[in-house]
Amino acid sequence: MNLPAHLQFLGDQLTLEGVSLDSLAKTYGTPLMVYSHTSIQQAIHEYQQAFTRHKMRLCYAVKANSNLSILKLCQGLGCGFDIVSIGELKRLQAIGVSAQTVVFSGVGKTALEMREALKAGIGCFNVESEAELLVLQSIAQELGLVAKISLRVNPDIDAQTHPYISTGLKNNKFGIAHTLAIDLYLKAFAMPYIQVMGIDCHIGSQITELAPFMSAAHTLSKLILQIEKESGQSLQHIDFGGGLGIDYYAGTAVDINPTELFSAVLPIFQDYGLTDKTFFIEPGRSIVANSGVCVTQVLYLKEAEEKNFCIVDVAMNDLPRPAMYQAYHHILATRKSLWPAKTYDVVGPVCESGDWLGRDRHLNVQPQNLLAILSTGAYCSSMASNYNTRPRMAEVMVHQSQVQLIRHRESLDDILRPELACLAQ
Ligand code: LLP
Repeated sequence: MNLPAHLQFLGDQLTLEGVSLDSLAKTYGTPLMVYSHTSIQQAIHEYQQAFTRHKMRLCYAVKANSNLSILKLCQGLGCGFDIVSIGELKRLQAIGVSAQTVVFSGVGKTALEMREALKAGIGCFNVESEAELLVLQSIAQELGLVAKISLRVNPDIDAQTHPYISTGLKNNKFGIAHTLAIDLYLKAFAMPYIQVMGIDCHIGSQITELAPFMSAAHTLSKLILQIEKESGQSLQHIDFGGGLGIDYYAGTAVDINPTELFSAVLPIFQDYGLTDKTFFIEPGRSIVANSGVCVTQVLYLKEAEEKNFCIVDVAMNDLPRPAMYQAYHHILATRKSLWPAKTYDVVGPVCESGDWLGRDRHLNVQPQNLLAILSTGAYCSSMASNYNTRPRMAEVMVHQSQVQLIRHRESLDDILRPELACLAQ
């Protein structure tokens, strides 16, 4: 096992940036999300360094983790943002981000969302259908504003990832078929309240091979040349989406990094002569996933006929990835111990057999011990729900031994208040 640099055993204790996870659990309770500031910083620097020789805009995908303190960290390091709802824009506005640095993706933007985003001066709408473009054009006209857009093209490429997070195949709901894109570009160029800025694609998430990215680069390049030839206009940017996968197996899986991605893809655009375009990228998972660790307490150990179960206090409502995508997250005890190792299914308290966190894991644990569930920084707290009326976890950020609470643990009052208010009417 190969733990990330910010996560190390000091003596018998697992620490994050030098702080013992057991001590954090003691102070803040469990289940608890703990993030490493340094890990997020390094992931952003890795993208920035990989792209220094080219005009680049790094737009962090807010959906991966939308905690305001994490967004503020990204903003401070020079990131723009990729959003998919007006709610995500409100989060950014709450911390003083200029909408000009934001691209607005999503297959079902409502008229209300378009209006708000236009008034805020959004940097670019990534438009996903002709119907959406027509609504945007009419709202822009009504407001007397010009909407900057890219068309999201679906290149029909198999990203070799879980079907639920594969987005660039022609049977997916996303984007405009690349075969139909030229016609729509010609229409968009003729619309008075639309300013065409670029082209956009996003083929999927947790992609661990370069080949799908390279195929997308070829398809986009050919399309850009054709669009520019037929329209006589030029596109200013290429938005290549997100999707770079991470190593969920703590050192056993192939991992591609931003430098490899850039070295594979940029020469393709250069070969087609597209060196003048600004390169946008929208990573989410590869910025935050490995920074996050969920600390959970073992409630009970249970030996059933065919399996041993380790029942913990975190569940599918907090960490939905295993239940939704059969995702693997590495799990280890926060203290080295001499308890006999056994093989367990690690499961939560929610009343569904789908509520599992890890299957067939070798663990040396006893009730009340703590476990760390790794790589939970992306698509965990942002996807959490109150299922089973379970309050959402508290979240803390650690930076070189300094600990900051970045989200209070939700209370049952927080959950009940909106409904009690209705009963009281
Ligand atoms: N841009 C667009 C338009 C997207 O739809 C996404 C993710 C991203 C950027 C960021 O992709 P990333 O770099 O994070 O792969 N909940 C799933 C992942 C869903 C991804 C959806 N789109 C999971 O937990 O695996």
